[in-house]
Amino acid sequence: MKKSEEALYNAPSEIKDIEIINTFELEDKAREVMPHGGFEYISGGSGDEYTLRQNVEAFNNKGILPRVLADVEKPETKTTILGHEIAAPFIMAPIAAHGLAHQTKEAGTARGVSEFGTIMSISAYSGASFEEIEAGLRGAPRWFQIYMSKDDETNKAIINEAKADGATAIILTADATLAGNREKDIRNKFVYPFGMPIVSRYLTGTGEKMSLNNIYAQSKQKISPEDVKFLAEYSELPVFVKGIQSPEDAVLAIGAGAAGVWVSNHGGRQLDGAPGSFDTLESIAKAVQGRVPIVFDSGIRRGEHVFKALASGADVVAIGRPALYGLALGGWKGVKSVFDYFESDLKRVMQLAGTQTVEDIKNTNLFKK
Ligand code: FNR
Ligand code: LAC
Repeated sequence: MKKSEEALYNAPSEIKDIEIINTFELEDKAREVMPHGGFEYISGGSGDEYTLRQNVEAFNNKGILPRVLADVEKPETKTTILGHEIAAPFIMAPIAAHGLAHQTKEAGTARGVSEFGTIMSISAYSGASFEEIEAGLRGAPRWFQIYMSKDDETNKAIINEAKADGATAIILTADATLAGNREKDIRNKFVYPFGMPIVSRYLTGTGEKMSLNNIYAQSKQKISPEDVKFLAEYSELPVFVKGIQSPEDAVLAIGAGAAGVWVSNHGGRQLDGAPGSFDTLESIAKAVQGRVPIVFDSGIRRGEHVFKALASGADVVAIGRPALYGLALGGWKGVKSVFDYFESDLKRVMQLAGTQTVEDIKNTNLFKK
């Protein structure tokens, strides 16, 4: 980052409701209020950003056939996942360093998510501690996403802390043991302007002024089914394997003890040239055969996308970048505005499609050209 930006990273601080016509515009607005390096770290993908674009484009490969002779007076978005009742079939994706978007960091996002009524995913690379995040979460459900240490005793200590904090599931992210080719970050010489309290115990340094690749290199880079087994046995919590893009990996993960499959290509930030995440969902759902829940992310920008993911086998979806743009533009209220937008947009799509419940959506057959 520019020397001046690195010395004093000036994240936005405003807290207000935001008007949302669509989430694409939010990105443009966030660009105006955020420091350049932080904005491009969040919005950017890898390589020529083909996969990043495909993540949204892929949703056009299936259509929703309108059904009109159906009662749609009272659409209901509530659903349950692993025993949690949530207001709508979407949760917050694990994202590092929310302090790039807003001075309230992860606590701001947590409050927006908790006021909306869904689950917060806490990234191992959070810029805030569990205690700081709890100030926003106020007892709301949270899942903990782990980037493992190379040392299992350290992993046990982190899991103990996450459990003490009240995590009800562990998300093992398997697709990011090194970063994709993020040209914007290279150009901006992007380094995190603050530390990462949860993993700083296994880093040389705190995370502050460090590049992502330096941090990944110090985390565990050899992730295997053994790690799934270890985490499930040690934590005694359900473990999701995140970053699944192939039926084969889904089957391997379940065989190793995963209690959930998280279909994602990391928001097009890892392997450029990979398909849009939505294009991989149907075949993975077929392989999973309902044995464990499926979370889907990468490219969710509209209610229509949530609908199509659920109709293709996901149980819930995760919201990523749009929530961070909401955070930048309005702190916790901005995050809540984003979740409210997805809920009302989903309700409209449900009604126009002739569905009234999340179960109805899951039973919908999409139209293939
Ligand atoms: C991420 N993602 C991510 N995933 C994870 O497991 N741990 C992490 O710390 C992060 N950090 C992170 C930072 C930023 C800035 C972004 C944009 C993404 C990936 C995230 O969980 C999710 O898969 C993507 O955000 C989904 O893509 P969209 O819908 O946000 O484009
Ligand atoms: C990223 C991380 C930290 O995608 O997962 O930047």
